[in-house]
Parts: sequence; C-alpha cells; structure tokens
Amino acid sequence: MGVLIKNGTIVTALDEMRGDILCRDGTIVDIGREISGNGEDEVVDASGHCVFPGGLDPHVHMALPFMGTVSTDDFEKGGTAAIAGGTTSFIDFVIPNRGDDPMEALAAWHEKAKNAVTDYSFHMSVTWWGEKSEEWLARCVREKGITSIKVFMAYRGAIGVDDTELVRALTAAAKLGVIVTVHAEHGEMVVELQNKFFEAGRVEPKYHALSRPSPVEGEATNRVLMLAELTGATVYIVHMTCAEAVKALAEARERGQLAYGETCPQYLLLDDRVYEKPDFEGAAYVMSPPIRPLGHQEPLWAGLQSGILQVVGTDHCPFNQNGQKDMGRDDFRKIPNGAAGIQDRLSLLWHHGVRAGRIDRHRFVDLTSTRAAKIFHLYPRKGSISVGADADLVVWDPEGTRTISAKTHLHGNDRSIFEGFEVKGIPSTVLVNGRIAYRDGDLEVEPGSGRFLERRVPE
Ligand code: URP
Ligand code: ZN
Ligand code: ZN
Repeated sequence: MGVLIKNGTIVTALDEMRGDILCRDGTIVDIGREISGNGEDEVVDASGHCVFPGGLDPHVHMALPFMGTVSTDDFEKGGTAAIAGGTTSFIDFVIPNRGDDPMEALAAWHEKAKNAVTDYSFHMSVTWWGEKSEEWLARCVREKGITSIKVFMAYRGAIGVDDTELVRALTAAAKLGVIVTVHAEHGEMVVELQNKFFEAGRVEPKYHALSRPSPVEGEATNRVLMLAELTGATVYIVHMTCAEAVKALAEARERGQLAYGETCPQYLLLDDRVYEKPDFEGAAYVMSPPIRPLGHQEPLWAGLQSGILQVVGTDHCPFNQNGQKDMGRDDFRKIPNGAAGIQDRLSLLWHHGVRAGRIDRHRFVDLTSTRAAKIFHLYPRKGSISVGADADLVVWDPEGTRTISAKTHLHGNDRSIFEGFEVKGIPSTVLVNGRIAYRDGDLEVEPGSGRFLERRVPE
C-alpha cells in the first residue's frame, strides 16, 4: 500500500503545478495531473493546500553534551517535534572533545541516533588539530559518508579552534573538496569581554549578549572568509545574526568567492530586549551568537531576499530553564548556550516571510529544504519533489493557525523563545519516507526508522 496525495498545489523551489503525487516503498513513484493509484493506496486530500518537499534542517544539536549538561532533545524527541513542524530530515554535528578521537565521537553519535524517527546526517567538527587529523577527515569523507566539516571560532578553551587549527582545517577541507561550516565569533575577544563584565559584578543574562557584540561576529566572519579565499576552501557560515556578518559575506560573494550563509528564525524575529526580562527569564535566550539589537534583523531579511544568505536553519539546541540554564544564575558565562526551534521553523518563516510578502513560496522551499540539500550533497534525494526522491513531503495548510508555547510544543524543554507567537501556515499532513507520520495533530513516529544519510562528494 502506498500514499496518494490528491489535488495539491505542488510547490518546489523552482515551479508549481496542481496535481497528485504517488508514493510507494518510501519514494515518489509518480507525479501528474490526475493519478488513480491502485485502490489500495491511502489517499490524502490536499485540495486548497500546498505540497512541499519535507523541510531539511542542516543545523541541529540533538542530545548534545555541552557546557556541563546535555541538550534536552534526543533524536526521537527532536525528530518528532521536527515532523510536527514539517521538517523531515536534519544534519547534526559530531563534536569530539578537544584531544578526543573523532572516529570514536562519530561512533558515539551513531549510537545516539539509533532511535531516530527521521533521516539524518552528520557534519564532523574539528575541535583540535593533531598529526592524524587530516587522515581522520579523509576517512570521514571517503569511508563514512560525511562531506562537511564544522569549526567553532568561539568557545575557546573548550571546542573552539585557534587560527592555526582553523587554517589547517580549511586547507584539509579544500584538498578533500568538502565544505566547512563555521561558527564565526572572535573567541578571545569574547573571553576578554566576559571576564571584564564578570569581574565588575555584572553577572545577569544580558551580559552574555553584551560580551558578544556584533563586531565580534563581523570580524570572525570576515576573517574566515579571507582565510577560505587564501586556502581555497568553501565555507558555510552558520547562524548569521548581524549586519556586519552579512556585509562580509556579500563582499566575499562579490569577489567571486563561493561561500554560503545561514540564519535562523530567532535572529530574524527577536531583538535584544529579550535579555531585559526579569527573574532570570533572559537566560532562555542565551545562545551564541546572541539575539541582536534592533537594526540587525532587516539586513538578514534583505540577505534572504537578495540571495546573499541561502538557508534558514534552527540551531536547535534546547535546555531547560530549571536545572540547566539556572546553572548560570550567578554567572552568565555558565548558562548553557542554546534554544529550541525545530518545530517552529517552517511556520515562522511562512508567516513572517511569505505571508508578510518578504519572500515567495518557492524561495520558502529553497530556504527551508532544497538549497541545504544541494549544498550538503543530499539533492535530489532530499529537497525535491521528483520521481525517485525520498517521499518526505509536507501537505501545508496556508490558513491553519497555531500559537507557539512551551505548554504545547513537542520540544523537550520548559521554555519557548517564541512564546505567544501566533502563526498562520502549518503542516496538516507530513510524510516521512512514504509513511504518514503526522496528520492534523496526530503523530505516528517509528523510533529507529530514521536512516543515516551517507553523502558523497560529486565526481
Ligand atoms: O548557543 C548555541 N548556538 N548553542 C549551540 C552550539 C552552537 O554554537 O551552535
Ligand atoms: Zn554555533
Ligand atoms: Zn549550532
């Protein structure tokens, strides 16, 4: 038995048509104006709805051990929330501790992913550089199906790299023909500012943001882009938040450099007044880079509109206020960095992007699915509606509404950074590998059914 989606407006990153999609054995087998099926196929009526390729989120951290604790959502919990929001696959980051063997870390991440309910892949983080690092990276690429690397320019003293390590990682990636995803913040400058505030008795969450002002990100973005040019590496700057960073990427692309940028809904929709909330509530918004002052959001939207930025991810990395964020009640430096968003990404971008007239629905599909699939070697298996592609599909109700709240979200943490946001545009049915996993609020996920997506660098 398959699934037949009838009468939807099928929307891809490029074009659209009114018609039907037939899915069998996990893949799309037919697309046409009028498909009959064999009478045994389960029929989904998509009249008045759009049908999109399932969302692909290239930036998540499931069950991440970080800053003395572990992010609340594992592959099952986070994947379930993802499905309910229309995201059907994601890429997590393997992050070895400084000095640890990345191949052992990779094995640990595979173990963690055993209960996955969606397909997933991994970026491999370079958190230190040693004699065997180049060989390890080559093994990731040639034997382990991983075609992207991650470097953190922040988090010095933990998982962050110095400039020598950064240059070596970029050089190795250029040699292997793989992309480097980059957390761009000037690590040393952050530490200087953090210590200055803390020593002056300024310990509240808002000093997290004040110790990472936008030039900290702008400088690092510019530096890594220049170093990428020098080494021949292709970089993808994750979670871009500010005007300075967008400018640096625009200039690099104008120079003819192949470089990409991602932002996330929180940087498009929130501003730094969130850090003024009383009773330590600002801690819920502690993430790196931080939420920016008013004035930085419009350059990000403009970047999405003009094509300087290519992807909207989430950086999904939830922590509870109680028991996790409160480890930093007396010291903002100890608040675990991160927040949840995987259930909300598509609706937020639809409501504030498409409905607000900032982007059209093709760009919406590109930003949430297709472009990431192309950049990270998953296309056309993911990110496309084509015969032979995985049947990861979202039937989208453009008139459906939801009020985002920690009381109702499927994220595992006790706060929502989008608490009270009302969005119009929600999934009504979500297919994961040809199976109906979500329909009108009801979920039917299969822990362990999610597959590791082996990637290959094209010849
Ligand atoms: O605050 C954040 N972003 N936490 C997750 C780790 C990272 O830097 O992406
Ligand atoms: Zn980061
Ligand atoms: Zn991240």
